[in-house]
Parts: sequence; C-alpha cells; structure tokens
Amino acid sequence: MKYKAIDNGLFINNRKNFVLRTKPNALAIFHANDEFPRSGDQTFIFKQNPDFFYLTGIDQEQSILILFPDCPNNAYKEVLFLRQTNEHIAIWEGHKYTKEEARAASGIENIYWLSEYETILQSIIYYAEYIYINTNENDKYGHGVPYRDLRMYEALKLKYPLHKYERSALIMRDLRVIKSAMEIELTQKACDITNDAFVRVLKFLKPGVTEYEIEAEITHEFLRQQATGHAYNPILASGKNAIVLHYNDNNQVCNDGDVILFDFAAEYANYNADMSRSVPVNGRFTKRQRAVYDAVLRVMREAVKMIVAGTVLGDYQDEVGKIMTSELIGLGLLDRHDVEKQDVKAPLYKKYFMHGTSHHLGLDVHDFASRYKAFEVGNVLTCEPGIYITEEGLGIRIENNILITESGNRDLMVNIPVEAEHIEEIMNN
Ligand code: GLY
Ligand code: MN
Ligand code: MN
Repeated sequence: MKYKAIDNGLFINNRKNFVLRTKPNALAIFHANDEFPRSGDQTFIFKQNPDFFYLTGIDQEQSILILFPDCPNNAYKEVLFLRQTNEHIAIWEGHKYTKEEARAASGIENIYWLSEYETILQSIIYYAEYIYINTNENDKYGHGVPYRDLRMYEALKLKYPLHKYERSALIMRDLRVIKSAMEIELTQKACDITNDAFVRVLKFLKPGVTEYEIEAEITHEFLRQQATGHAYNPILASGKNAIVLHYNDNNQVCNDGDVILFDFAAEYANYNADMSRSVPVNGRFTKRQRAVYDAVLRVMREAVKMIVAGTVLGDYQDEVGKIMTSELIGLGLLDRHDVEKQDVKAPLYKKYFMHGTSHHLGLDVHDFASRYKAFEVGNVLTCEPGIYITEEGLGIRIENNILITESGNRDLMVNIPVEAEHIEEIMNN
C-alpha cells in the first residue's frame, strides 16, 4: 500500500457497529473483491471491496472475514482468513500480509490461512441461525458481472440450505454513509492532494498543451503524494469535449479561447475526493464564459447551503433546479414564458444541466447510501452543478465535497481555488 498505516481503531469500531445491528445468533461473511484477469499472465490493478475494507482495513485479495459475536467458541467470534504466501507468490507477486501485520492492520486477533476456511466455517455454522451475506445493493450497480460474495452465497446455499439468509447491505448502507473523524481525515487528505494537483495544472496549462499532458501532471502529483491514484478516470475536457459528461479520451489539444473542464480527484487509502473545475486555457475568461462560470458558482453556493441534516435528495434537486432555471434565464438560455408553461416532470433546465447535483462520497465515489433517507450529520456529499451549452462549445462544472456537521456544513475543498479571479491570478503569475 502506498498510504500510511491507518489506526486500526477505525475498523474495530466499524465491526462493533455492524454486529450491534445484526440479529442474535448471526454469522456474517464478507469477501474481498475478485481479481480480474487482464490477459494471459496479468490482472487489473486490485481494488478492495469497500465493505470489506471498511470492516477490516485489509487491502489484499482472497481475504475473508467472519463475524459471529454469539459463537459458542470464543476463538471464532471474529476471524480473518488470508492467503498464505509461499516462495512462488513472494517471487512473482511480492509481499503478502503476515498474520502479525494483518492483526495490526485490522485489530482482529484470530487470523487463519485460507486453507482452513471451510473446516472452521463448517465447525461453527450450525450454531448460527442467520447468515448475513454482503450483496452489492448500490441502486446504480449494474449486475453484468457476478461478484465473489454472490458466487460464494450460491455455494453456501447449496451446502447450508436451511439457515436464514440476511442482507448485510441494509446495515452497511446505514453505517457507511456516516463518516467518522478518521474517515473525514482520510477524505480531507484526498482533497488536499487534489488541490495540489489542481494548482500545479493551473500553472502548467496554456494554449497548445494537450489534455494527456495535463493528465500526466495530475498523475505525477497524486503518486508522489502517496495517493493510490485517480479516484475515477479523470475528465480533462477542453472546449466542446466538456459537453460529453463522462469524456475521458483526454487526447485533444487545448485551444486558445476555450475553457477546459476538469473532473479529477485523488484516491487516498481507498477514500475518494471528487472535484470539478473549469478554467480558461489562456488564463482569462471571455465575458460570456465568465458569466456562465459565475452563474454555476452562484448555484453551487446556494446548493451548498442546503446540504445540511434533514434535507432529502429529491427535494434538494428540485430546489437546485429552480435556482439553476433562474440563472439560465439570466444567461438568455431559457425563456421565462416557456418556463412558466413547462412540464414539471420534465423541467427545461435539464437541457443545460442534465445530471444530479449531489451524491454521497466515501469509499466509493458514488458512495453507497439510500437516496430516500434525509441527509445526516457525518454525511459527505458532492455539490456539482454545471451548465453545458452545445451551441457554444462550452461546458462548465464546479464540484466541491461537503461534510455535514452539527452546525451546518464544512467544505472539504474550501482551499481549492474556485473564484474566477483567483484562478486567473494563479494562471497569470
Ligand atoms: N467524477 C464523477 C462525478 O462527479 O460524479
Ligand atoms: Mn466529479
Ligand atoms: Mn461527483
């Protein structure tokens, strides 16, 4: 791992909170993510399952966690199974956790090698009434690829058909959405690294630079600061490319007079930032670009005020839509009379602002959370309004990450330049 060791109190506490919410006599099983083959002898970079990481801090493939607080055998109330290394693995893949290292990382005392999993499970499972399985219940998750927890569940059901199976996801959804102080610190670190990369890019950008050169600058800054890498495929979209919401070809030249939309951020210790900024390639916004920019910034400022405990996402989006509508009228993009007659189910602002304003952020960039539950203290949400004008080859999005506190909210990106003058000043110095 590139990041500094995390205090295992985070994971001890997370497990404690999880088992507090399970039924009596329940055994929960969590699997690490699959490794995905890339070609003959290669896999894609391993990415830990966020729930598994949340409960263990273990960043290694083929690991299994069993939580069984009511287990009659004290040795198996909390057990971690790990891949046992050998000479071959050491030569070809490198270091794997020793039991001592895994104990230190996770705070779990009882660590076994994977070869002992079936036997140990068999010895305790009949004493459990419920088995909690960790299905992926993110409502945006596409089920095209079967994942490890689901496959293991199929096998388990055949072997132990009469247990009562339960969903861990319902508990994880409530737990993960409320960030602890340590998680906020890690998220802040991801934001701070992102800040440095952004300022570096502002100093680097000029007409004639390519989008991929900017990507290289960002990647260099991320890695030298111990980020795992990009939180998501970076979007470096100059000119009309910014209209494509998930543009990441990043292969064009940045032209004089264009605005470039950046949506990039660091991942640090599996925690993500998610930032967007839009800046003039030549260091000065035109009058029109500036008008659109300031409109988006005003919408963001107003929207951020609503990111407080008690707000419900759907109502919030409607309110932001109203603010955006009046800005779009101000910019001459919408007509007031047309707006008065609009179908409320298909508001006109969506022509220029076609995505949601906010999503939860954490171990997943689009973090696991209920979209119907009101915001709570400890939530971290993005705020990312944008205006995309195809006819003008102009797309502007601004995105900050907001923590909800007892007394309102705190912008974790407050230090990242966002005022147009400030951005121009950095670019021209
Ligand atoms: N970068 C992904 C998003 O803003 O949602
Ligand atoms: Mn983003
Ligand atoms: Mn986002």
